[in-house]
Amino acid sequence: MAIRPRRSALYMPGSNARTLEKAKTLAADVVIFDLEDAVAPEAKDLARDQVMAAVAGGGYGNRELVVRINGLDTPWGLTDLARAAEVAPDAILVPKVSSPSQLITVGQALAPAPEKTRVWAMIETPLAILNLREIAAAAEDPVTRLSCFVLGTNDLVKETRAALDENRTAALFWLSAAVTAARAFGIDVLDGVYNAFRDLEGFRRECQQGRQLGMDGKTLIHPDQIAPANEIFSPTEEEVAWARKIIAAFEQPENQGKGAITVDGRMVELLHRQMAQRTVALAEAIAAKS
Ligand code: COA
Ligand code: MG
Repeated sequence: MAIRPRRSALYMPGSNARTLEKAKTLAADVVIFDLEDAVAPEAKDLARDQVMAAVAGGGYGNRELVVRINGLDTPWGLTDLARAAEVAPDAILVPKVSSPSQLITVGQALAPAPEKTRVWAMIETPLAILNLREIAAAAEDPVTRLSCFVLGTNDLVKETRAALDENRTAALFWLSAAVTAARAFGIDVLDGVYNAFRDLEGFRRECQQGRQLGMDGKTLIHPDQIAPANEIFSPTEEEVAWARKIIAAFEQPENQGKGAITVDGRMVELLHRQMAQRTVALAEAIAAKS
């Protein structure tokens, strides 16, 4: 299956028309039209109308379009979901998913929407962390359309009362558990936001950490964060060169039928060839965007 790069996923407050327009010119892989936390209660209806008009109006090129709805337990959630289903974005991002049953409810309500509209789940409650396995397993039920996790680290900090240092020590359990659960059931996973958007050095460090943990990309709050995220979540030239070398080595006649070979003094197994193939496919998908 073709890989869709999701290195950078920029949130825009649905109530802020300027940002919705601006996103058409920004190099984010994904744009997330937010109806939830970034929109004040008084602006919910305006935001919904603006977002649906923007998604229906298009002009976002090959950017992936995601609408974050309000929770279904709020006065706005069901209307958000019904209206979003009509304009058929690439995905609907559901906040505060804590159990698979919420995803089944959303999936059933989405039944009239085209198949291409997937469901992404915010992982941002303590209960979600405890239930990660069951939530990720919901991806096996086609009715849920689940295809990506998005970490909500600000909410997790609030709910757990953790304090994050610059290495996000207290968050490592949440982040690793979410990546592990996502991979167990074949879905993508995006890291939480970095609030200090003027501190690009700190932001880069956090992107690197997210990548090391296995994240596919990072959710963003400001345009300045896009270029660093795109860079850090792309395979480096050295990584692509090494991947191509591994693939080529296994194609040598003397290596046919072998499970483990030596490349540049390192043991390389068939699993490394699979990793190499993914690296090359991701690099090609990124190159094809420009
Ligand atoms: N998406 C698209 N464009 C954005 C943007 C975003 N998230 N954030 C800022 N911009 C635009 C601004 O409109 C401005 O464009 P312009 O100069 O062409 O008019 C430009 O980028 C520079 O913005 P800047 O002045 O540096 O920031 P700001 O003070 O206007 O906004 C925030 C700061 C944090 C309020 C704003 O970035 C924001 O709302 N971020 C998203 C918040 C969000 O969605 N949170 C929910 C998920 S955690
Ligand atoms: Mg949240």
